[in-house]
Order: sequence, then structure tokens, then C-alpha cells
Amino acid sequence: MEQTAPIDQAEATSSPEYPAMGERIGALVYFSSQSQNTARFVANCKLQDEGVDVFRIPIKPHDPPLNVREPYILMLPTYGGGSARKAVLPQIKRFLNDPANRAGIRGVIASGNTNFGEAFCMAGDIVSRKCKVPFLYYFELMGTKDDERKVRQGVVDFFRNHPE
Ligand SMILES: Cc1cc2nc3c(=O)[nH]c(=O)nc-3n(C[C@H](O)[C@H](O)[C@H](O)COP(=O)(O)O)c2cc1C
Repeated sequence: MEQTAPIDQAEATSSPEYPAMGERIGALVYFSSQSQNTARFVANCKLQDEGVDVFRIPIKPHDPPLNVREPYILMLPTYGGGSARKAVLPQIKRFLNDPANRAGIRGVIASGNTNFGEAFCMAGDIVSRKCKVPFLYYFELMGTKDDERKVRQGVVDFFRNHPE
């Protein structure tokens, strides 16, 4: 008979949107709404080519939950229009409210729009404080080529310096 993983194990881990190529060094978990700015940025960074598993937090409430069981950096856009209470979207809170997901967070990258002034990238400060992990980088909207280069190199360096 064919060997299969036990049900609980099979359900425990989600598949990456972009699986790491070659030797796996770490993971990135991101959220992006229908406007897809963050999704475009992540696609351009090609972190999977550097050995990073890239997971996407589902948009719709009825989508199956994302379960990540490896150390990761969280990348999230800021919402709420200046309200600290609404800066982190419910989909991201749902992901982080699962203790098994929260256990893997090692750092935060946030995005936003400078039009929001003081609240620019506020979600990064909130998650960094709540989860007690460093706020590693921020960028605006879908980022620039320079942001892509810095995030690509920064994520690689981070996992090389924090092997587990
Ligand atoms: C309703 C709304 C509220 C927003 N509030 C903030 C904010 O408080 N601070 C900020 O820096 N950016 C804010 N933004 C900008 C988003 O973070 C930015 O557009 C981001 O690139 C969206 O990423 P996504 O397309 O991947 O969802 C807001 C955008 C929208 C549409």
C-alpha cells in the first residue's frame, strides 16, 4: 500500500506559492490585497531563486488557512488609513493568531504610501512590537528596483546570519 503522511501532518503545512530552488535557507510570508502591489514586488524579488520559500496569506475569509512551520520574515502592506487598530488587516491577524504560525516569525518588512504621513508603514511597527522581532525594511507601494535588490540581498543575509 502507498505510504501517506498522517492526516494531521498533511494538514499542518501549506505549500509555498514560490518554492525555494536548490538549498532552502528560509521563508518569506506576505499578504497582498486585490491591488497586488506587494504581490508584484515579491514576484520581482525572485526570492525563491535564492533558496527562500515564499508563502502568500489568503485574501478571502473562506480560503483555507495558511500554515507555515518554518522560520520566516513577514512582509505586509499597511491599511487602516491612519488608524492603528486597523493598520494590520484581519487576514494577517488571523494568520498570526495561530500560535504555530506566530512561532516562526523572525522579522518584518512593511509597505505603505507616504500620503499617510505619520502612519506610513505603521503595520510594521505594530507587528514588530507585538511579536518582538526586528522591523527590517520598509518600502512604498510596489517598491523600486533598488528596494528589490536590497530586500533580495537583505533576506539572504538575514537567514545566513540566523541559521536554525
Ligand atoms: C484603504 C487604504 C488604507 C491605507 N492605509 C495606509 C496607511 O495607514 N499607511 C500606509 O503607509 N499606507 C496605507 N495604504 C497604502 C497601502 O499600504 C499600499 O497601497 C500598499 O502598496 C497596498 O499593498 P497591496 O496592493 O499589496 O495590498 C492604504 C491603502 C488603502 C487602499
